[in-house]
Amino acid sequence: MGKARPIWALVSLLFLVYGNGSMMTKVEATSKVHIVYLGEKQHDDPILTTNSHHDMLASVVESKEMASELMVHSYKHGFSGFAAKLTECQVQKVARTLPAYILIHCKFLELPGVVRVIPNSFHKLQTTRSWDFLGLSSHSRVNALHNSSMGDGVIIGVFDTGIWPESKSFSDEGLGPIPSSWKGFCESGKRFKPRIHCNRKIIGARWFVDGFLADYDQPLNTSANQEFLSPRDANGHGTHTASIAAGSFVENVSYKGLGLGTVRGGAPRARLAIYKVCWNVLGGWCSAADVLKAFDEAIHDGVDVLSLSLGYPPPLFSDTDKRDGIAIGSFHAVTKGITVVCSAGNAGPFSQTVLNTSPWILNVAASTIDRAFLTPITLGNNKTFLGEATFTGKEIGFRSLIYPEAKGLDPNSAGVCQSLSVKPSMVSGKVVLCFTSMTLSAVISAAEVVKEAGGVGLIVAKNPSNDLYPCADDAFPCIEVDYEIGTRILYYIRSTRFPIVKLSASKTIVGKPVSAKVAFFSSRGPNSKAPAILKPDIAAPGVSILAATSPLDRFQDDGYAMHSGTSMAAPHVAGIVALVKTIHPDWSPAAIRSALVTTAWRNHPSGFPIFAEGSPQKLANPFDFGGGIVNPNGAADPGLVYDMGTADYINYLCAMDYNSTAISRLTGQSTVCPSEESSILGVNLPSITIPNLRNSITLTRTVTNVGASNSIYRAVIEPPFGTSVSVKPNALVFDRKTKKLTFSVTVTTAHQVNTGYFFGSITWTDGVHSVRSPLSVRTEFLQPYSYVN
Ligand SMILES: *[C@@H]1O[C@H](CO)[C@@H](O)[C@H](O)[C@H]1NC(C)=O
Ligand SMILES: *[C@@H]1O[C@H](CO)[C@@H](O)[C@H](O)[C@H]1NC(C)=O
Ligand SMILES: *[C@@H]1O[C@H](CO)[C@@H](O)[C@H](O)[C@H]1NC(C)=O
Ligand SMILES: *[C@@H]1O[C@H](CO)[C@@H](O)[C@H](O)[C@H]1NC(C)=O
Ligand SMILES: *[C@@H]1O[C@H](CO)[C@@H](O)[C@H](O)[C@H]1NC(C)=O
Repeated sequence: MGKARPIWALVSLLFLVYGNGSMMTKVEATSKVHIVYLGEKQHDDPILTTNSHHDMLASVVESKEMASELMVHSYKHGFSGFAAKLTECQVQKVARTLPAYILIHCKFLELPGVVRVIPNSFHKLQTTRSWDFLGLSSHSRVNALHNSSMGDGVIIGVFDTGIWPESKSFSDEGLGPIPSSWKGFCESGKRFKPRIHCNRKIIGARWFVDGFLADYDQPLNTSANQEFLSPRDANGHGTHTASIAAGSFVENVSYKGLGLGTVRGGAPRARLAIYKVCWNVLGGWCSAADVLKAFDEAIHDGVDVLSLSLGYPPPLFSDTDKRDGIAIGSFHAVTKGITVVCSAGNAGPFSQTVLNTSPWILNVAASTIDRAFLTPITLGNNKTFLGEATFTGKEIGFRSLIYPEAKGLDPNSAGVCQSLSVKPSMVSGKVVLCFTSMTLSAVISAAEVVKEAGGVGLIVAKNPSNDLYPCADDAFPCIEVDYEIGTRILYYIRSTRFPIVKLSASKTIVGKPVSAKVAFFSSRGPNSKAPAILKPDIAAPGVSILAATSPLDRFQDDGYAMHSGTSMAAPHVAGIVALVKTIHPDWSPAAIRSALVTTAWRNHPSGFPIFAEGSPQKLANPFDFGGGIVNPNGAADPGLVYDMGTADYINYLCAMDYNSTAISRLTGQSTVCPSEESSILGVNLPSITIPNLRNSITLTRTVTNVGASNSIYRAVIEPPFGTSVSVKPNALVFDRKTKKLTFSVTVTTAHQVNTGYFFGSITWTDGVHSVRSPLSVRTEFLQPYSYVN
């Protein structure tokens, strides 16, 4: 008789595992402050001098607006010159030492009178650029980072693969005593001694393996340091996520000598409680039984925030199904005031792939940041194109360039990356061009084939709306271009008897010219369990994030690695929640979530809209990024919040038609749903999603004033296409007594057909705050389960 198998499901970690070669390894070079010294001034009038500086800078950076943004100082009295934030390319333009390969992108400009361009040596780079991108620079004194004493005193629990405690990112230097509310502890095990490996940063470290072993049915391979039966991290994922949330400042960190700078977490003074629930098998697996046990312990221990970069693949379990340890465990945590932050999943860009969708969870999608890795490709005719790659090797001077043309009848059989078959005699010492309609695997396999046959480089033409994937080690150039550039290169090859190409090392472009996007892989809504509950809630950086890792991580360099995934996005938000919690210790998880969602960026502060990678690339909508990209400084002062408590969650459970027994078991109290049907549209979320509008629907929301007591908010409505939206009342008047007000929203449509989703918003504003709720509406004239005679 076989052993009865427990019903616990396995949960998988949500980070991207690439094939052979390096993870997204990047050159980190940012716009640095440079001093452009112009010698003697040309005008006596300082205003004219300053104007001329602005004109000069504008000619380099393409616009006057950007020039004003980048200008740091204008020197106009003793001498003429200015200090401005310039990228390498811009510096070279100014200095007139522009190398030929950039010519195609940056017009060469004659700038008369430039004497010298001097890099400013005082500016310190943040290697973890994501925090600067989010407005949390440690150099500024008045942002949410400083107003919250960097999260001091808040305890962030991380459910993951454990921790590498020796990493400098977990130094407790300068931290005060362990918060007195803390009831947790550190547990010993293989190569883990609480007395040595826990400190005032890592204040708890436990491991939960019984559920996993029961499921796994074979011994865990602990030889060759594949895994440790202890809180120690063999995988690296847990160390990475913990250091993103709450890593201490570590100076002079780099990846292979690149990107030297300071690395840190979102809340560098918050404490970490490590719950190892995932084990290093097949990239990381976690049993729901262990996850649920960890919730139980963490609630008792006294964590304030929980960060979970794991989840189940769809179909989603119901919220009351104990095979989903996350939905149930997080319900208990949230109703006790603990914010639970979870990853959205990496199954994008396809619809309805978002995981962890219970309305009490704060669900995080992944975005890129304002950074690109441009790699020049120069053809024998001297034309240069810019591709994307992470090629950090030496420039590859002019070599033969080949495209494997078709031999048989099918003209499309040639040059397809995923079925590339090349002989060493054909490609040795050469660069190969191929085309693909697929992504990751095709690119990786083509790079391996070419490299094996002795080729020196690969140019891959692919769908431009897909994310950049690294396809080989950093020293083998594998450059991605879109079909337009790929076609131009192909025509060049066909136009000449001896096509040649030169490949230069990748350059990092950072700052304004690069817009942030929702990452290709990030899972999308609508929520397949409850479409009226918008998921994801928010997006945060999750592409090429440099953070601490285990030395056993094969992608690491001196204990740090760049990883991508919604796994990296969730701890960004966990760190930010810790900051908000320090400023507002009495806010509920729902209030904090509302503050994040209603202040998130739909456009980057530079004014540039946020796109979503996918097919086709488009402006991001709420199913890509919920309210938008997280804006920590806005979240610290949202004005109004949409609060929720246990009663609201029970209303949701009743509206989901779970039976009373199941609900009572979940809530731990006898619960009878009201006899009239509960409306899921009435759940007090900071967003409104109507999946099945016919004619007209009215719903209500309640807001709580958390700003100045006497304030008046007015509604600004952006109706979704084909609908009219009205709000009653359309002004909310708060005073010392009136803190909470309820309003109704009526959405009407004239559509008499089933439509897709259209998007709009409802924003309450008092002139200072903008409390924006995304509004998504689909007309369902004929329900999918209706009978048609
Ligand atoms: C355990 O891992 C080591 C190192 O990778 C390997 O050599 C060994 O074969 C594995 N043992 C089992 C039982 O899989
Ligand atoms: C920074 O790192 C480099 C290379 O690892 C080393 O040579 C240098 O001494 C370090 N500087 C400081 C201030 O630690
Ligand atoms: C390309 O540029 C180089 C150097 O500028 C020049 O010597 C060469 O003749 C040019 N070749 C073509 C085909 O224009
Ligand atoms: C930080 O505090 C300063 C001073 O009280 C205040 O002016 C500023 O708005 C605060 N910023 C944030 C993001 O909390
Ligand atoms: C409630 O649901 C559970 C599990 O789905 C089921 O076992 C039970 O019989 C149901 N109870 C009622 C009263 O329908």
